[in-house]
Amino acid sequence: MEQNKKDIKNTVDKTNKNGIINIAIDGPAGSGKSTISRAVAKKMGIIYVDTGALYRTVALKLLAKKVKIENDSVEEILKTTKVELKFVKGEQKVFLDGTDVTDKIRTPDVSMTASSSSALPNVRKYLLNMQQSIAKENSVVMDGRDIGTVVLPNADIKIFLTASAECRAKRRWLELTQKGQNVTYEEVLKDQKERDYNDSHRKIAPLKPCEDSVIIDTTELSLEQSVEHLYNVIQNKLNK
Ligand code: DC
Repeated sequence: MEQNKKDIKNTVDKTNKNGIINIAIDGPAGSGKSTISRAVAKKMGIIYVDTGALYRTVALKLLAKKVKIENDSVEEILKTTKVELKFVKGEQKVFLDGTDVTDKIRTPDVSMTASSSSALPNVRKYLLNMQQSIAKENSVVMDGRDIGTVVLPNADIKIFLTASAECRAKRRWLELTQKGQNVTYEEVLKDQKERDYNDSHRKIAPLKPCEDSVIIDTTELSLEQSVEHLYNVIQNKLNK
């Protein structure tokens, strides 16, 4: 850990932004983004922000209100919706209208609604400021779909994490079944393909690497190898 702190200190001096480092990580569902980003942030001693959780929190509200997923109806709901992101012992928690919903946002229903509602301009506008303010005030590893392209275009490092569709679906299926959810691999793969299509074909902020992204494919890498590789890429870039 001492070594890590030293690594970061050396790089902090070069960022010239009051010592704040912003690392943007984008990629498709199941690429291992959250797990890898969380581990890398921990290794660096900085905050990990999972922006997908914010879109999922909005989706939870839309599902509860049974609202049609279109821009105007959703805008009405958002006027009276409070989404908050808090850090409890370094772990991110999301709150919807004052209630901690962190454990309620990982269901297939919420995933699908988050994918369709995140294409709406009003939803993206509603969440943009919150994400940018966190990164302005804190060193962060922030993951999502448009972090490098829209949320933090001036990030110190931009990474695009990917893996084959089958590998990603298998990882997500294992994660869901380990949590006790009753889904088949085929269902997960089908849902994932639909979400991949939605996320990369929407008009605003579609999922795509930036020109200056480092692309990392984790298909053949274990979790430990992915974390190590990402950490080394980050250190090398920051030390240039
Ligand atoms: O990363 P995730 O699977 O938890 O994200 C849920 C959905 O939210 C995903 O289908 C796309 C959307 N999303 C987005 O549009 N932009 C982000 N920065 C993060 C997530």
